[in-house]
Amino acid sequence: MSRLLVIGCGGVAQVAIQKCCQNSDVFTELCIASRTKSKCDALKEKLNGKTSTIVTTAQVDADNVEEVKALISSYKPDAVLNVALPYQDLTIMDACLACKVHYIDTANYEPENTDDPKWREVYEKRCKELGFSAYFDYSWQWAYDEKFKEAGLTALLGTGFDPGVTSVFTAYAKKHYFDEIHTIDILDCNGGDHGYAFATNFNPEVNLREVSAPGSYWEDGHWVEVPAMSIKREYDFPQVGKKDMYLLHHEEIEALARNIKGVKRIRFFMTFGQSYLTHMKCLENVGMLSTTPIDFNGQQIVPIQFLKALLPDPASLGPRTVGKTNIGCIFTGVKDGKEKTIMIYNVCDHQECYKELGSQAISYTTGVPAMIGTALVASGVWNKTGALTTDEFDPDPYMEMLNKFGLPWIVDENPVTVE
Ligand SMILES: NC(=O)c1ccc[n+]([C@@H]2O[C@H](COP(=O)([O-])OP(=O)(O)OC[C@H]3O[C@@H](n4cnc5c(N)ncnc54)[C@H](OP(=O)(O)O)[C@@H]3O)[C@@H](O)[C@H]2O)c1
Repeated sequence: MSRLLVIGCGGVAQVAIQKCCQNSDVFTELCIASRTKSKCDALKEKLNGKTSTIVTTAQVDADNVEEVKALISSYKPDAVLNVALPYQDLTIMDACLACKVHYIDTANYEPENTDDPKWREVYEKRCKELGFSAYFDYSWQWAYDEKFKEAGLTALLGTGFDPGVTSVFTAYAKKHYFDEIHTIDILDCNGGDHGYAFATNFNPEVNLREVSAPGSYWEDGHWVEVPAMSIKREYDFPQVGKKDMYLLHHEEIEALARNIKGVKRIRFFMTFGQSYLTHMKCLENVGMLSTTPIDFNGQQIVPIQFLKALLPDPASLGPRTVGKTNIGCIFTGVKDGKEKTIMIYNVCDHQECYKELGSQAISYTTGVPAMIGTALVASGVWNKTGALTTDEFDPDPYMEMLNKFGLPWIVDENPVTVE
């Protein structure tokens, strides 16, 4: 029924593509394109004989709009799923607009070079005006809303787990459980153990930038920013157990604060073990998390990119990671004049994911929703035009597909709340 171009072939892409190939009724043809074509060819080989989706591969540098345009023009997909890096969001959106195809991604735009003076000027203005200083924000992609509307196209922003499913959970809670939602706490727990002293579960550069940034939350109509890792809570996660979690800035807060009328507070917490935090602090203190190039023996090196080369490839963690993730949201609010609290969450087992697709649960919990969002756009079930986040659509078909494609969810109507 539809032809899909997937850009990127890393940890998340490998899951999304395999899941698309389990859904051949929607994805009849699929092209895997990435910077390193050999990875695309290896995945095509792995899928050989396992799917009726017709899979092809291509090489593309998605930093180059003209290259992406040329690939779209020759392959003629109905939609493009961007599971490369957030650095490529805008170039791929430009190419999709020029070629009139739908666009889907899992993370909002941030620049690769945070020293770029043109970007920095906009960033510093935004820090002052909005009050949070993370490198990523929605303003760059929301600026495409009118253009996508005029072209009659959908740009679905952030259909991973968080952001993505967490915003669908919010739309579902709003539709079925609340007249008004007052607080949202998003809890992301990875109870998995990969046995390394230090490794990241998805792209190290993007991950370390995210978790080393100051934390922030939305309260009473404005942002409150706090030093990184300065707000800590313990939570007893169903099927995982007690874990320390820390308040982080996270992109769905921005979209939910805009779209959920009457919401008073939105926070995001992620669990980290002590070993991860100690390593991260040390790397930060010695300058290894810096994105500013340094001169080393006559060569320009970006410290965080060098670090990425040293760390285990997240796609390789699958066989050695044991344990479960528990990601979900606690909502408080009012229904029929009465106060109400619910939690919606999913539990995912690292080893089960590995058995099914050869990857760990972080790639799995991102790749499955990437396929689901893409399927809903490609099949016209989600057909609003503009640059939109997942909370802006009917959550029901998405929730059904989560159950069907490996991420079943649970509604707890009497959860423990976070202080
Ligand atoms: N929403 C969520 O819940 C969530 C959670 C985790 C991750 N994510 C997002 O998912 C995306 C993928 O993460 P990942 O862990 O899969 O990353 P990854 O393993 O590093 O894979 C990135 C892929 O993109 C390719 N790529 C990078 N630059 C490119 C370019 N200029 N042109 C073409 N291809 C390029 C890479 O190619 P090479 O093989 O040549 O390096 C690689 O195949 C990221 O945007 C991340 O932020 C979202």
